Amino acid sequence: MKILIIGKGYIGNRCAKAWPGSVLAEKHINSKKDVLDLIDEHQPDAILNAAGVRGKPNVDWCEDHQMETIVGNTKLPIILAEACQKRGVYLLHIGSGCIFYGDSPHKDKKWRESDFGNPKAVYSKAKWAADLVLSTMENIGIARIRMPIDYIPSANNMIDKLASFPKVIDVENSVTIIDDMVDVFYKLMEKKASGIFHVTNPGTLKHREIIELYKEFVDPSHSNKWINNEELVEQGLAKKGRSNNFLNSENLEKIGIEMREVHEAMRDVMEKYARMKKQGKNSDEVLSC
Ligand SMILES: NC(=O)c1ccc[n+]([C@@H]2O[C@H](COP(=O)([O-])OP(=O)(O)OC[C@H]3O[C@@H](n4cnc5c(N)ncnc54)[C@H](OP(=O)(O)O)[C@@H]3O)[C@@H](O)[C@H]2O)c1
Repeated sequence: MKILIIGKGYIGNRCAKAWPGSVLAEKHINSKKDVLDLIDEHQPDAILNAAGVRGKPNVDWCEDHQMETIVGNTKLPIILAEACQKRGVYLLHIGSGCIFYGDSPHKDKKWRESDFGNPKAVYSKAKWAADLVLSTMENIGIARIRMPIDYIPSANNMIDKLASFPKVIDVENSVTIIDDMVDVFYKLMEKKASGIFHVTNPGTLKHREIIELYKEFVDPSHSNKWINNEELVEQGLAKKGRSNNFLNSENLEKIGIEMREVHEAMRDVMEKYARMKKQGKNSDEVLSC
């Protein structure tokens, strides 16, 4: 399968490393013609949209840059979808589980793929808008991920982020282990699966559990303070409270795709992460191999 990846950022590069033979597009996309040219040049079987605008240094940036956020997360996916539909190429778009805030209305508190989002931040609203329109089309899949966690040290990795904060919010979430995510993305593209898929590992993980594993495998002397989500904003550490939630992956199950239970996967990732740290390896070094 020939995969064309749009978006040379964190996830795009990580997927390119996982799939030898895939092509990471160089071009910045401004129009449908840009995409049609890329399709005609590379003749892909599937396209992964790993491009987007999620704010630097963090998602708070999007609150003051609404148009850039909407262009990158709503308009760009629609442009890609239009070109892919015209050429009959399957598109897998990376969505975000951050379109859900808090508990779902279901008894188990988990959000289903079919549930309506309740986004609060500009970034989440722009992502949800793309999901609403793209999910009506055949030959397009939406893979929602959350808090990607990887064995490769990187400023984008949830492990590095949590370990760097002196104050950490004491929350529990559905998360995406990247090793599992790249396999699921590949299978979704092989199956040309249409619709929305929650690409999060079964079970939920507390930030406290991640830090405990970090202390066990990486740095026993690590310490931090614990605060709640409201204190994050009250103490001026964020402009808006972050999305915390539990996701259910009903649609992956329906098409026979499984992911490892989150605690099993997290332990495996932290062991590998600790080995990389000991060897002094980071993402620049590993992803350029
Ligand atoms: N990382 C996470 O925590 C996370 C969680 C949930 C969902 N996601 C989603 O996963 C996707 C990838 O995120 P990421 O973490 O890899 O973000 P990233 O590191 O910021 O990478 C995004 C890339 O998209 C590129 N891009 C933006 N507009 C483009 C355009 N018009 N044409 C071509 N490239 C364009 C950016 O290039 P420039 O910077 O040069 O513009 C950047 O290289 C996004 O849709 C994001 O919403 C990420």
